[in-house]
Amino acid sequence: MIEIALNVNGKEHHASLQPYLSLMDFLRDMLGYKGVKVCCSTGECGACTVYMNGKLVNSCVTLAAAADSGEITTVEGLASNGKLHPVQIAFIETGASQCGYCTPGFIMSAKVLLDEHPNPTVDDIKDVISGNICRCTGYTKIIEAIQLAASIQLAEQVYGD
Ligand code: FES
Ligand code: FES
Repeated sequence: MIEIALNVNGKEHHASLQPYLSLMDFLRDMLGYKGVKVCCSTGECGACTVYMNGKLVNSCVTLAAAADSGEITTVEGLASNGKLHPVQIAFIETGASQCGYCTPGFIMSAKVLLDEHPNPTVDDIKDVISGNICRCTGYTKIIEAIQLAASIQLAEQVYGD
């Protein structure tokens, strides 16, 4: 067993775990962050996407040990003061979520895009979600959601929340 300490969604955690435990299983099974979805478990689908020290990672192919002393954000950490993130609002408003299993991963990817490119092109959007697979929506609604999220975010910056 190894000991790690990390911050998840602003909260400090200390844990004793097997060195081979994935970050996905650690977040879900030991800490209860069920917004981290289990799907392919081979780094292909993006359902398990989280931020580790500000970067997108597929948590199924990342060791929990690699997060020691780091900061993790899951989809549960995006809302602020009880208010959903613009990307979360936009996914609801556009109906971009059907079964919803892929949705947390798409939302995490989209937020990173909007942090870096507040007014993205469709090609920018397609590029950032290229690591996320959805079996339900056909992607059109997801692209619309990210465009709407960009508009909401820009409006909030101009007019306030
Ligand atoms: S479950 Fe991690 S990439 Fe598919
Ligand atoms: S909404 Fe079902 S897999 Fe994407």
